[in-house]
Amino acid sequence: MGGRDATMVLLDENGIRCDGRKVDEPRRIMIKAGGLKNADGSAYIEFGDNKILVGVFGPRDVHPKHMSNTDTGILRVRYHMEPFSVGERKNPAPSRREIEISKVIKEALEPAVMLEKFPRTAVDVFIEVLQADGGTRCAALSAASVALADAGIPMRDMVAACAAGKVADTIVLDVNNEEDQAGQADMPIGYMPSLEKITLLQLDGVLTPEEYKKCVQVGVDGCKIVYDIQKKALQDKYFGNGAD
Ligand code: CDP
Repeated sequence: MGGRDATMVLLDENGIRCDGRKVDEPRRIMIKAGGLKNADGSAYIEFGDNKILVGVFGPRDVHPKHMSNTDTGILRVRYHMEPFSVGERKNPAPSRREIEISKVIKEALEPAVMLEKFPRTAVDVFIEVLQADGGTRCAALSAASVALADAGIPMRDMVAACAAGKVADTIVLDVNNEEDQAGQADMPIGYMPSLEKITLLQLDGVLTPEEYKKCVQVGVDGCKIVYDIQKKALQDKYFGNGAD
């Protein structure tokens, strides 16, 4: 969207990508657990140039009451982009894309959260994208997992997320915004590393069966890198010097 250099080389003869990364290298990832004092749990992530804040509330009473489930708790997720998060001002009203991403993230988190322990209640996850640069759903999902853990919500595992894709006929890890727009395929993956279970898999583009398998493997390996950073964020808050 806007201002892309048509002559940009996506992958040079040395296997270096347009932002200087190798094919299996993720962007810089920084996660901070906590930070919002009015939320039960929170997290902030920088994933390349993506900047996303997540607040978690609950388990708490459901209003209106008929939305509650007597057998289990419910998870509600709102993914929202700030109008200033992208180059061209985004209308603050929820777009179809934001509604889809909210649903996708909710469904990716549900297998991880032990909602059955909190019947009749809701856990609310609010995601605010402050700056977007391709791959916000994966970054948001990874931060939401940390925020849920920070809220003390019992979980089977954290969901770590990272995309893989096809750029210049090559399978690469963590597709950036330029690669997403000019590349051939983008596959966001959410993965629970301890349980070895995929909870999110989407594919925009066309891949051969071999490329598909390779893409899943590369994406899962990326999720494992994210997982280590998620765990470190929680360790830093609860056992390290970053407590707040
Ligand atoms: O962010 P993600 O890759 O998960 O979702 P996408 O729908 O594939 O969007 C790719 C990127 O397009 C976003 O990360 C934003 O950088 C950009 N975008 C934008 O510039 N304006 C919008 N209204 C929506 C997305």
